[in-house]
Amino acid sequence: MTRLTVVEIKLALKEKGYTNMNDKSQKPKLSMYIHIPFCERKCAYCDFLSFDYRDDKIDAYVEALCKQIKTYEYGGQWQVSTIFFGGGTPSLLTPQQITDIFKAIRETIEVSKGAEISMECNPGTLTEEKIDVYRALGINRISLGVQSIDVDQLKQLGRIHNDKNVFEQYDLIREKGFTNINLDIMYGLPKQTLDEWEKQLDVITALNPEHISAYGLIVEEGTPYERLYEKNPDIFPDEELELAMNWLAHKRLTKAGYVHYEISNYAKPGYECKHNETYWRLIPYIGFGLGASSYMHNKRFDMIDDLEAYISMANNTSDMVAVDSIVESTIQKRMEEYMFLGLRLLEGIDEADFLYTFNCSLTSVYDDNLDYLIKESLIERADAHIRLTPRGIDISNYVLSYFLLTT
Ligand SMILES: C[S@@+](CC[C@H](N)C(=O)[O-])C[C@H]1O[C@@H](n2cnc3c(N)ncnc32)[C@H](O)[C@@H]1O
Ligand code: SF4
Repeated sequence: MTRLTVVEIKLALKEKGYTNMNDKSQKPKLSMYIHIPFCERKCAYCDFLSFDYRDDKIDAYVEALCKQIKTYEYGGQWQVSTIFFGGGTPSLLTPQQITDIFKAIRETIEVSKGAEISMECNPGTLTEEKIDVYRALGINRISLGVQSIDVDQLKQLGRIHNDKNVFEQYDLIREKGFTNINLDIMYGLPKQTLDEWEKQLDVITALNPEHISAYGLIVEEGTPYERLYEKNPDIFPDEELELAMNWLAHKRLTKAGYVHYEISNYAKPGYECKHNETYWRLIPYIGFGLGASSYMHNKRFDMIDDLEAYISMANNTSDMVAVDSIVESTIQKRMEEYMFLGLRLLEGIDEADFLYTFNCSLTSVYDDNLDYLIKESLIERADAHIRLTPRGIDISNYVLSYFLLTT
């Protein structure tokens, strides 16, 4: 196996701009996640932290969330370079509620010029007024949860929208001037065929969004889909068909000009999601809202996930911390996470970046395992990067298990 010398690694670091590490004139950059745990109706396959729409609770929740943001005492130390409103369904919020949250953010933390500000929206929940307010507040990326454009599939998924809603709301977002739109789509759905998936991919690419996330269905524990699977496993595509759907997406989307940059993500060049890249690269982020996680100073903080407790804490304490647990990460744990997340990126892991992050070389940590995975053509090593091969992508969980350092 070829190894980089220390000099080569230092040169690579220099090329990547790491010479400015001691420049204290700029505040360090941070990504911010805001969780909105309400949906009009819970979908049959979803286990995200979200509840059926409760008008009475949303106002109280937004108030608590704003308080949590405003009482964050280290806001002055950072500059936020990406913000992501996720859920749940952030587009359920009224223009006033979303405006209040932005006010709390801007009062607390500096938002850098040109920051990527994304908002997850559900077809069927957007209005012209909401989209205008998003633009005025500085939101510049909309992620629309399309999932499917087949009416029967949408019904079975438990979605509130139909195909017409998708097209109308997509057009509206464009007309209102958004130039960075992501569409979430899903494959591996009950009774889905390869032909039908191909047609969906054609319709989605014809819309010409800047970004597409194509997720293989995961049958999550405790969801109605788990019960459906137990009762009728044969209606779900088998592993072979699911892999074929994944590679069909790769073929059609790359042919249409998208870069396949992460296992489930495709982007027009330059439109890769900066926010998600911070997770994949283990860059610090802060999460506000119910159940949100933060990662900074090598620690992971998880917020409480009990809605009533979260709201009542805002009413009863002067500084709202709402942290449920703090886990200090060991260097081994961080290396594992770095490998697990970084290998999801098709560009792979930059060996110089590993050295910069951990102060030791990747090969010194994973020597024998790397040799084995390369020999089995599951990992390739080129341009000072370690990345999954197409065969490795198919069995990524197995490959990633070779990067575990703790039990
Ligand atoms: C956090 S969800 C919320 C987005 C938005 N509320 C919506 O559903 O339109 C983000 C995406 O995860 C995907 N997703 C959710 N549950 C999934 C599952 N069980 N398997 C695969 N993908 C899933 C869906 O594509 C969804 O759009
Ligand atoms: S709308 Fe999105 S977050 Fe809400 S239940 Fe459905 S998939 Fe989950």
